[in-house]
Amino acid sequence: MSAEGVTIRSISDPGQKERIAREILEALPDWFENVEAREGYIRDSREWVFFAAEDGGKAVGFLCLKETGKPTVELAVMGIRMAYHRKGIGSALFAAAKAYAVSAGYEFLQVKTVRMGMYEDYDRTNRFYLSLGFRELEVIPEVWGEENPCQIYVMHLRDAVSLTDLILKRRSYRGKFRPDPVPREDLQKILEAGLAAPSGCNKQTVSLIAVDDPAVLGQIRSAIDPPAAETAPAMVCVLSQRICAYRDRCFATQDYAAAIENMLLAAEALGYRSCWYEGHITDTDRICDRIAEILDVPEGYDLVCILPVGIGEGEPGVPKKKPFEERAWFNGFRKGTEGWE
Ligand SMILES: Cc1cc2nc3c(=O)[nH]c(=O)nc-3n(C[C@H](O)[C@H](O)[C@H](O)COP(=O)(O)O)c2cc1C
Repeated sequence: MSAEGVTIRSISDPGQKERIAREILEALPDWFENVEAREGYIRDSREWVFFAAEDGGKAVGFLCLKETGKPTVELAVMGIRMAYHRKGIGSALFAAAKAYAVSAGYEFLQVKTVRMGMYEDYDRTNRFYLSLGFRELEVIPEVWGEENPCQIYVMHLRDAVSLTDLILKRRSYRGKFRPDPVPREDLQKILEAGLAAPSGCNKQTVSLIAVDDPAVLGQIRSAIDPPAAETAPAMVCVLSQRICAYRDRCFATQDYAAAIENMLLAAEALGYRSCWYEGHITDTDRICDRIAEILDVPEGYDLVCILPVGIGEGEPGVPKKKPFEERAWFNGFRKGTEGWE
């Protein structure tokens, strides 16, 4: 993501976060003159989700998110060097943070600032938040004292992503994962999404094994050569049974394809990244059979695919897709779409 050549990057190293926060906040005395508060932000930024705006490798702004409740995340602090104001960098930082908050499954985003009408600089901040779509929740004078009445703004995030947006946004992720474990509730939801998929004649030919035990993951990892999904903190292994639906018709492949897509979307909706690894493990070297052995999978079940699950450290690549009108039409082959008639 970029605004006027500025790149937005997510930062994970606590030391780097602290350095950037210090550099930027110390350069913004009009907003961060209270040393105690400023040092608090700098220290706490080490633990927060952190996005930096960089121009030629130099940090020119940053934004931090902190969880304030299970469904709620707060835009805890943001700062942009004065020379970079009014260039769309705040909006670009915010867009990256909002995308993260949505994909991490948060429902609300809140931000606090000094109420409109008190100071010119803060009035600009208020107008900026309103322009992003924040709504006034409440003013609480006690938070920072009568002279700095605290305006709380809130934004509902669930409206921000529809199922169609999620489908369009999903991408295969092959990068590094953060080590955070995936809670069992989330793994269970992903498995349930897989099992909820349609199946030919309702034969339910798909079975699933979620793996989150580091020892078992380690065994699986050592079976995958060349390596893939090495850093994933969890994995779903997809098993398929060749059960005939009727006569000699077997829909097992279609069944597991539907289950896999459901799980990829469920993982994405819960804020995780994944990738459909099938070609890699079902080739002539039959990595899939070795994984099946590790998991004590009995005869009659084929292990057909693995799906790593975890929070991505980076962003997925963007594959080149053929244009819409080359693959989809209205009312006949190559009809009804601009460019073909
Ligand atoms: C049947 C099937 C097998 C796949 N096998 C692999 C694989 O072994 N390794 C891999 O990196 N991606 C694999 N993928 C993911 C595709 O490469 C990916 O979906 C495609 O490049 C489009 O990218 P997107 O998922 O980001 O839209 C597989 C996808 C499908 C549907």
